[in-house]
Amino acid sequence: MSEQQMKKQVFKPNKEFAKTARIKNMCEYHELQDAAIEDYEGFWGSYAKEKIDWIQPFDGVMDESNFPFVKWFEGGKLNVSAQCIDRHLDTRKNKAAIIFEGDRGDKQIITYLELYYQVNKFANLLRNEFGVAKGDRVVIYMPMIPEAAYAMLACARIGAIHSIVFGGFSAEALRDRIEDADAKVVLTADGAYRKDKPYMLKPVVDKALEGETPVEKVLVVQRNHEDIEWVSGRDYSYNEMIEQQSTAFEPEVMDAEDPLFLLYTSGSTGKPKGVQHNSAGYILWAQMTMEWVFDVKENDTYWCTADIGWITGHTYIVYGPLAMGATTVMFEGVPTYPDAGRPWKMVEEYKINQFYTAPTAIRVLHKMGEDEPAKYDLSSLKVLGTVGEPIDPPAWKWYYESVGNSNCAIVDTYWQTETGGHIISPLPGATPIKPACATFALPGIMAEILDPETGEKVGVDEKGYMCVTRPWPSMIRGVWGDEERFVKSYFGDVKKDGKPVYFTGDGAVYDEEGYITITGRTDDVINVSGHRMGTAEVEAALKKESEVAEVAVVGKPHPLKGEGIFAYVVLKHGLDESRFEDDVAMVKALNGIIKQEIGNIAVCDDIVFVPGLPKTRSGKIMRRILRSIAKGEEITQDISTLEDPSVVEKIISIVKS
Ligand code: PRX
Repeated sequence: MSEQQMKKQVFKPNKEFAKTARIKNMCEYHELQDAAIEDYEGFWGSYAKEKIDWIQPFDGVMDESNFPFVKWFEGGKLNVSAQCIDRHLDTRKNKAAIIFEGDRGDKQIITYLELYYQVNKFANLLRNEFGVAKGDRVVIYMPMIPEAAYAMLACARIGAIHSIVFGGFSAEALRDRIEDADAKVVLTADGAYRKDKPYMLKPVVDKALEGETPVEKVLVVQRNHEDIEWVSGRDYSYNEMIEQQSTAFEPEVMDAEDPLFLLYTSGSTGKPKGVQHNSAGYILWAQMTMEWVFDVKENDTYWCTADIGWITGHTYIVYGPLAMGATTVMFEGVPTYPDAGRPWKMVEEYKINQFYTAPTAIRVLHKMGEDEPAKYDLSSLKVLGTVGEPIDPPAWKWYYESVGNSNCAIVDTYWQTETGGHIISPLPGATPIKPACATFALPGIMAEILDPETGEKVGVDEKGYMCVTRPWPSMIRGVWGDEERFVKSYFGDVKKDGKPVYFTGDGAVYDEEGYITITGRTDDVINVSGHRMGTAEVEAALKKESEVAEVAVVGKPHPLKGEGIFAYVVLKHGLDESRFEDDVAMVKALNGIIKQEIGNIAVCDDIVFVPGLPKTRSGKIMRRILRSIAKGEEITQDISTLEDPSVVEKIISIVKS
């Protein structure tokens, strides 16, 4: 069957599952969506009342008078850590909140009561020993261990704003984020384990803090107990200090709109931006989407394989599952170690009911272990999720048939760091699913594919811009320290009825039944293994090599990673006169700079040395041409108006050779 034919197949929800689903059929879905359209504030207000344990009720639902600076649930007071822990203690104190499995197979089951004690101790340590107070920024640079979740919740309990930096980012990238957030504390670990071997994080922190830094204190969890440097007066051992802390900590009373966290993400220009999410709106939607999209029941075990360094880890490992009182699995290791049956072994062992991962992981698990799922009992699975990048129909088919036994709903969840939670996704008991299709906007989300010129909704099969036309509770509240960038980045491209609307940066199409398929970014952001990377960041790193005169980076389809990074580099003196013996040495040096400036995730798959870049007469680099060349496509654009049309032929012959 061709991919096109596969995409046209429709898979109805499992009838047994639908009987007890929170949203049972498409009629119920439409009723909810119609209710939101008719009375938008009424819809959100009633969910906010029902789902959140308010310390003080809110007065107003939404204030968009200063759009796009929108406020939700004003007057309301809450604490997100209490929403995730304290309120469950009456009914769930002995329920597993977190099931942790380490790389080497070590296990921990943390109940809600234990989580409460751990978070309180952590909060006491931060407040009493480090002086962390409400509004302070705390950077978390940690592996996937339970202490990372305690750290997030301890910050929330104090009212401090956490900013997690993915452990794969380099010292330079970490330093940038620490400085931008003006963080006074860093929470880290000596390192952790990967594929049965220790790897290190603390040396990266040491490097990031060299010279002037706003950071006063560093707390180190000792996980792998390898030797590390300790800077006296700055570095403290969590393991030594935590046991003395009290297990009681009264949660700080927070306003609905007090910031909860920052998470840096790439845009099409400049350095990564600190996406800000605030307390009530974010936690409300994290919880609602957990309930609707994964339909987790009281006795279920749910596993999301993301890293807490990304938004998926924030919303769907920690905040969403804990807010609803679910059991969430946290895994330190690599899904293909010791073999590509590891996740399925874990599904069998913990009787996982909902499994959530990225298409890249599915492709790798498929390639490395096509027959592995059959070796395990996967009958507990009910819902399988994907996130972060488009999933291709062959990977979808394997996931559906071999992992899900053609019995589970696949929820292809579309969302972003900025949206806080899912915005377009199938509902497992209700939505007839088409492979590799995000289907419909969730109830309450006014998502529309618009024509950027006219602001009108596009017709069937016409590509348009994926927009959200009304603010929703978990919408990004700002770019840290840069109001102008916030407005320009998200509300500057598309207007509907003359008013700016939120634009995601993605293109999308409707099919004849109104199903939404995301077609990918319309800007210079690329998606490598589900990780978002700005081409501008990679270019800035490459330009640090003094031999580089000019550089242009584009994405290129990659069979496993979804997209790979392809760099065109113009050297100042040509290779012969450079410091490097040959282009292999130069490629190595350039990727070395990328590792240092950004991290391994940004290493280029291809670097080609070209005599020049295709530019218009006004000097703009024609990236579309470069994208086509990288893909090996025919050049259909008119190149006669370029400053030097002959450069295109030269580049093509270099890339082909
Ligand atoms: O291009 C879209 C893609 O990932 C981008 C968001 O990346 P990030 O903020 O890092 O968050 C990733 C995890 C939510 C989007 O702009 N994307 C995300 N989910 C999907 C997707 N593309 C296609 N299908 C999806 N389900």
